Amino acid sequence: MCGIVGYVGVRSGLEVVMSGLRRLEYRGYDSGGVALVYEGRIASAKKAGKLANLDRELALHPLPDSSTAIGHTRWATHGAPNDRNAHPHLDSSGSIAVVHNGIIENIAEIRANLEAAGHEMVSETDTETVAHLLHEELKGTHDLAEAVRSVCRQLEGAFTLVIASGRHPDLVVGARRNSPLVVGRGKGENFLASDVSAFIEYTRDAIELGQDQVVSITPDEIVVTDFFGNPAETKDYYVDWDISAAEKGGYDWFMLKEIDEQPQDVADTLLGRHDASGALQLDEMRLSDDELREIDKIIVIACGTSFYAGLVAKYAIEHWTRIPCEVELASEFRYRDPIVDRSTLVVTISQSGETMDTLMAIRYARQQRAKVLSICNTNGSTIPRESDAVLYTHAGPEIAVASTKGFLAQVVACYLLGLYLAQIRGLKYGDEISRIMTDLETMPAAIQRVLDESEPVRQLAKELAGSKSFLFLGRHVGYPVALEGALKLKELAYLHAEGFAAGELKHGPIALVEEGVPVFIVVPPRGRDQVHEKVLSNIQEVRARGARTIVLVEDGDDSVVPYADELIRLPKVPTLLQPLVATVPLQIFACALATEMGHDVDQPRNLAKSVTVE
Ligand code: G6P
Repeated sequence: MCGIVGYVGVRSGLEVVMSGLRRLEYRGYDSGGVALVYEGRIASAKKAGKLANLDRELALHPLPDSSTAIGHTRWATHGAPNDRNAHPHLDSSGSIAVVHNGIIENIAEIRANLEAAGHEMVSETDTETVAHLLHEELKGTHDLAEAVRSVCRQLEGAFTLVIASGRHPDLVVGARRNSPLVVGRGKGENFLASDVSAFIEYTRDAIELGQDQVVSITPDEIVVTDFFGNPAETKDYYVDWDISAAEKGGYDWFMLKEIDEQPQDVADTLLGRHDASGALQLDEMRLSDDELREIDKIIVIACGTSFYAGLVAKYAIEHWTRIPCEVELASEFRYRDPIVDRSTLVVTISQSGETMDTLMAIRYARQQRAKVLSICNTNGSTIPRESDAVLYTHAGPEIAVASTKGFLAQVVACYLLGLYLAQIRGLKYGDEISRIMTDLETMPAAIQRVLDESEPVRQLAKELAGSKSFLFLGRHVGYPVALEGALKLKELAYLHAEGFAAGELKHGPIALVEEGVPVFIVVPPRGRDQVHEKVLSNIQEVRARGARTIVLVEDGDDSVVPYADELIRLPKVPTLLQPLVATVPLQIFACALATEMGHDVDQPRNLAKSVTVE
């Protein structure tokens, strides 16, 4: 977690770093801080809470201007989120400033040794220890990058470090292991950041850093080495995002904008998936058709909302490919001794591409010789780099902490993967795949319709703002939709909300139903008559016990009308594709309810967008 920015060049370092931090605030907002190199020393400021607090602090106690600066926005791991633990952390001489993302695992011993040698720590953080270590290293050398490399060789765990030193004007040094860091290449200026959104205002030329690398930036030079000082290979890329994509564009919340962008995201994720012969193709498919034909099991691994996209994937992949498909929470996967071998395809799903639980699961799977294909929204992030194959979703930057457009794009990518596997394994004829692709291509218009007709959902949210508890029911692919609807409400409105497989209702959850409790029910399209009838019975069961039923049902299906207190109409779509339309009203409901309750929708309490700790 945490967002990091570093700058050297000609502009006001403070301005560049603060504007970068604002764009990275989604990564954590427990505290913010900046450090500038000024007249041979470090000038710094830091403050607990959101960046607005740091802004106030800087207005009260202005810093001198400098064109060498680093900054940090924190999601606390070591030590409480207070001023003292906020980054940057300085060494005892006050001339070295360090910002850090990640957790250093062997810090206790290093800290004890430093304290025994007379170093006094003022915070509870692992980061401060690094500043003191650097102090020791710089006694033997003037070379800051070499000192950083030497420190990195002593550290275990996950870290991105960015360092400025009073004795080294016009230089910022960064290092990364298991945590993200990208370089922005400017003219007469260079940038470091946790992700490119921090600097796309200034440059779109970026460099991907690899694992265990150290980078030194001066205004005119970027030097990358491994932790031993050997020149390292890096990959340049061009950021083609529009800057407006990272801004609110007139909406009250990024989330509202992101919900509205979903028709476009789905269309973009479907774009360019055929080759000249009409066959499906994936982006970075570094696995051969033969390798994919040998697969006898698929395990989908993800966290949070991405996990629910994985649950949808299971229905589609098993139906289209007949390959057994399990779905597993990344944080559980490697601890249960899973049965994984070279004929297993592990599919990971991650919007950010940085989720540590998912990354660790990938590393475990690859050690077991499994092939790993990642569905990811963030180009150049760690997860796709460590995978054998990548299928990118094209949702654009997702800023709101709780995922919306990322989810829909992931679901589309899962369908594409299922169809691709069916294609290369000869399980579907070209015309069958084209038919499903044609259905998929109608989805942006269907989602747009749901958006256009969403005003009653917003009204309903206002009405239900006093409710303490919500239930969500679904069957088949409606089940993950119910789970996602409940998760959105927990994340945004801090309310008790549970999603259940409607068939499980009678095995326990029905005990939660009491007079007036709102129950959302996702009704499967009539095409699946068996499941449809069962859900109809479930609606009656909860209603008989006093529930207020809010029924999501396709156009023309009036069978539910007698049992629905509220009706949310969905466009008629094939059963497997229904999550693409059914999830949207639930996102809108959660967003509107949280707004009504006065919560910060984009940055809900205790959460962070990119969770880079296990
Ligand atoms: C965090 C976010 C969720 C997200 C999950 C997985 O918990 O708050 O919105 O679904 O991480 O993130 P990923 O980037 O791996 O999809």
